[in-house]
Amino acid sequence: MSRPKPLVIVTRRLPEATERELASLFETRLNRSDTPMDAGALTAAVHSADVLVPTVTDRITREIIAAAGPQLRLIANFGVGFNHIDAAAAAELDVAVTNTPGVLTDATADIAMTLMLMVTRRALEGAKVIESARFAGWCPTWMMGVGLRGRKLGIIGMGRIGEAVARRSRAFGLEIHYSNRKRVTPAVEQELEATYWFELDAMLPEMDILSINCPYNTATWHLISAERLSRLKPTAYLVNTARGEIVDETALADALASGRLAGAGLDVFEREPQVHPKLLTLPNAVLLPHMGSSTIEARTGMGKKVIANIGAFVAGEPLPDRVA
Ligand code: DGY
Repeated sequence: MSRPKPLVIVTRRLPEATERELASLFETRLNRSDTPMDAGALTAAVHSADVLVPTVTDRITREIIAAAGPQLRLIANFGVGFNHIDAAAAAELDVAVTNTPGVLTDATADIAMTLMLMVTRRALEGAKVIESARFAGWCPTWMMGVGLRGRKLGIIGMGRIGEAVARRSRAFGLEIHYSNRKRVTPAVEQELEATYWFELDAMLPEMDILSINCPYNTATWHLISAERLSRLKPTAYLVNTARGEIVDETALADALASGRLAGAGLDVFEREPQVHPKLLTLPNAVLLPHMGSSTIEARTGMGKKVIANIGAFVAGEPLPDRVA
């Protein structure tokens, strides 16, 4: 390493405690203005950084990694999803990549439940009635949503977050179904009374609610395509807290607008921060601005993970959360 303390360049503002600890341990360049860095700024950063700490808002492309100086040895992502980093290029160019798993599981599962409840119980529509002073009093047939008890929840991606969604959903009386590359252990299946579907296409028509919890990669781009959306019941709901690119957003907006699908709760979008304009007009779409991990606990936990990974890198130890 070229310096006694590695130069750590952080692309966005991080929680205060994280920034303080980073600055006390390493030579740290923070982004005080929190202005997202474009390709030029990222290229300049990797010219001098030993460690880059990006977030989901940065596109760390092959070109950027290839333009890095030889001192760049670690990309310590602040976030669990790392689809915005060309991990294959990083591996080829001998730059390690780490992420922050585990610490945002509860927060993200909570947001999935929030969306599930909001969309099935029409909570946003109701809140807008109050906000616009249109509440004319209780009415026996007005604002009816659907209850969760006894309905079938299909979880796509039964990793940490998928399991956490399943555990919460059990408390609401939902029946758990899942599609995953591999089956979870018999103990977990038993605990959750979960049904495994080898064929996603076979699961879809049976579900009342679909929760997307898988990582985004080339294999999951538009996994929920127009064709797969058409397999869902017209009374079904879709909840996405993973990545927008997993769902064909135009097809989803069309399905919601035409009544081919009952509703959707989305925390993530295909072209963030842009949101499909049609989605913005639909009462059956509950939209949140990528808030899955936005608790103080999760974000400071993510900071601790980043620091632990950089610490291990400096000490020459195995990286705890290495993904490439
Ligand atoms: C994550 O950690 O993947 C969140 O979506 C923010 O990047």
